[in-house]
Amino acid sequence: MLDNKQLLYKILPYGCQMNFSDGERFAGQLERMGYKPADKMEDADIIIINTCCVRENAEKKIYGKIGEIKHLKQQNPNLILGITGCMAQKDGDKIFKKAPHVDFVLGTNKMYDLPAVLEEIYTSRGHIVKLAGDYDMPPNVEPAKNDSLFAYVPIMYGCNNFCTYCIVPYVRGRERSRAPEEIVAEITKMVQSGVKEVTLLGQNVNSYGKDRNDADFADLLTMVDKIEGIERIRYMTSHPRDLTDKVIAAIKNSKHVCEHFHLPVQYGTDKMLKAMNRGYTTAYYKELIAKIRRDFPNASFTTDLIVGFPGETDEDFSQMLEFLREIRYDAAYTFVYSKRSGTPAATMKNQVPEAIKKDRLHKLMDLQNEISLEINEKLLNQTVEVMVEGPSKTDKTVYTGHTRTNKIVLWQHKDEKVGDLVKVKITHPQTWVLKGELEA
Ligand code: SAH
Ligand code: SF4
Ligand code: F3S
Repeated sequence: MLDNKQLLYKILPYGCQMNFSDGERFAGQLERMGYKPADKMEDADIIIINTCCVRENAEKKIYGKIGEIKHLKQQNPNLILGITGCMAQKDGDKIFKKAPHVDFVLGTNKMYDLPAVLEEIYTSRGHIVKLAGDYDMPPNVEPAKNDSLFAYVPIMYGCNNFCTYCIVPYVRGRERSRAPEEIVAEITKMVQSGVKEVTLLGQNVNSYGKDRNDADFADLLTMVDKIEGIERIRYMTSHPRDLTDKVIAAIKNSKHVCEHFHLPVQYGTDKMLKAMNRGYTTAYYKELIAKIRRDFPNASFTTDLIVGFPGETDEDFSQMLEFLREIRYDAAYTFVYSKRSGTPAATMKNQVPEAIKKDRLHKLMDLQNEISLEINEKLLNQTVEVMVEGPSKTDKTVYTGHTRTNKIVLWQHKDEKVGDLVKVKITHPQTWVLKGELEA
């Protein structure tokens, strides 16, 4: 510590839930060193930007943020600015060239070095960069104490899939699965301190345990389901190719694993799936969804979709819209293909012009919104179970929560408390939210 002043930290997570979870572990390290969370960036003694590089616009936003922080460093020369995560891993010391006011760069898998890096900065300030080289299994870094109902728990790191558009395997390394007993112990502790819902994280959770011989993903779900006091279990991301019957049976036999299937399809034609190296066909995927629907008639389905991948034609695109009409997802996360240098797709011929990509994105979103609304309208006058999360942002008398199928519900608050499971009758279903009334 520099002096007796209480030092404060601010962590800005970008990108996916994995980064959010890493951010909580950075926070854990800082709190064990005596730091406390800052309310505002202006108050912070250390700011960590935990970065994402999955698409170019994510990087642009982050470099913009790094630029904004320059004036804070002018006001407070002791402020330490660290850049961590996937873009840090990719750009390394190039970040100092673009932004010399950055103090340190820590790649993925190097977050456990944070205390040592800070000691080094206190004794002799200068640019420090540490990047993951061999992507070994990171030590178990405990997250900061969580006083919310929700927790993200990484069960594995890295990805072996090499989808041709994706940079994640290059910045996160190969798959490494954490020990099942370590995961169960961590979740048990969280549940004892008030967490009710956990989301198990990995780039492809269905591969969990393939690098071990003691448990696979189905076994892990069964173990987590038995933790005393846990209410809801979610997981992401589930690669359609690797979702086994054993996992489906484990979900069916569980009490707490939610009936929400996020199964990113990425595209709706065989030609594009092949070019993307996704490892399944549309026929396989449709049968998988049909199988799940037979077992879980009330399940919800969501997906990720990319438009504008190299070689995509109008014909491909209209087949994709047809595919969506057939599957009928509850919601979809839609992305415009972004060239990531070093990935196979970046050098493929027939890159799609930006204007066409944008046009397709809008058409895709319009169709999906129509489908989402139609599906939600079927919930009119139905009663759903919701976990109470607390007041909504805009109106303190209106409370909010999610269904097990991961839909957002809003209702007029009575005397229900945060963490309660309540029944809400849906009166105004919309595309993104369901509005309803609390049932007695
Ligand atoms: N491992 C997960 C998520 C990876 S990143 C999975 O396989 O689903 C989250 C989403 O970002 C992906 O599902 C994909 O739809 C999108 N994405 C990844 N790389 C992209 C790129 N280069 N351009 C546009 N979208 C991309
Ligand atoms: Fe990227 Fe594919 Fe791995 Fe997901 S499964 S992280 S999209 S390479
Ligand atoms: Fe982004 Fe890294 Fe996640 S690139 S999407 S933060 S794994």
